[in-house]
Amino acid sequence: MEEAVKLNEAFHSFTQASRSLEVYYEKLSDRVRFLTAEVERKNEQLKELQDHHRRNLRLIAMGEMAAGIVHEIRSPLCSIELYSNMLTRDLEDTEHSEMSKGISTGIKSLNNILTNMLLFAKPQKPSLKEVKLFVPVEESLKILAPLVKIRNINVSLMISNDSIEGDPELLNQVLMNILLNAIQVMPDGGRLQVFTEEGENYIALAVCDQGSGIDPENIEKIFDPFFSTKDRGTGLGLTIAHKIMQSHNGFIKADKNEDTGSTFRLYFPKKGVAAGPMGQEAAEK
Ligand SMILES: Nc1ncnc2c1ncn2[C@@H]1O[C@H](COP(=O)(O)OP(=O)(O)OP(=O)(O)O)[C@@H](O)[C@H]1O
Ligand SMILES: [Mg+2]
Repeated sequence: MEEAVKLNEAFHSFTQASRSLEVYYEKLSDRVRFLTAEVERKNEQLKELQDHHRRNLRLIAMGEMAAGIVHEIRSPLCSIELYSNMLTRDLEDTEHSEMSKGISTGIKSLNNILTNMLLFAKPQKPSLKEVKLFVPVEESLKILAPLVKIRNINVSLMISNDSIEGDPELLNQVLMNILLNAIQVMPDGGRLQVFTEEGENYIALAVCDQGSGIDPENIEKIFDPFFSTKDRGTGLGLTIAHKIMQSHNGFIKADKNEDTGSTFRLYFPKKGVAAGPMGQEAAEK
């Protein structure tokens, strides 16, 4: 009888142990299922990353090829530009004067597009010098003069005599892009103002037009590469301007004017404030 009780107890313990084992087994199976799903998910992510990497390599190769082509086109274009400038000078005050100015402007705008593409594919480190702020403005406006005249645009300049640390070529490219945009939004004429503003930490060069202004829904996108609302725009002008301003420890800001048009401000750090990229809040002090 006693043995039967012991046997019964042993059998009971065995059943309990076996139940616990079953529960553990279930939990373990769940865990294995979860981990298997996790491994599958990670494998998919890895495959996506590998595809992405392969696509990036292809894009880099295409970018390098495009930069090479642009570079090759630019060399003969510079000679054409030089000859066309000489021709424009020779034809000054003749009946062909306007026509040759038109050719020169066309070549310069082509050169501007190619320079933007080259800078996009291969950003350039600025080689800094002291630059008077009015210099890149005047140089760009000289190139754009025929366009300003044809469009009946009235330019007013109020630029201080201040200098900043900048790369003259790159600054010319920024101003070309900003001024060209301002001229393009005023096809029937208007006033183009360029003026300086001074803050505690910065000097800003402002370009104000009387165009149609920037749509609020586009204000976040205008600095994105390839964003353009123009039929034949590449959408690289503002991207390049923004990148060049960053490489000068500055930044660029666009605002819709209260009345008509918009104002683009280029913020440059004042001398001695240049350590690290200048934050917007610091600039707005
Ligand atoms: N002064 C401005 N007034 C209103 N909208 C502007 C002005 N400047 C730029 N934009 C808007 O920002 C977009 C992007 O400008 P961005 O200069 O980068 O390219 P794009 O002028 O369209 O082409 P690209 O400069 O390459 O020829 C323009 O298409 C336009 O919608
Ligand atoms: Mg542009």
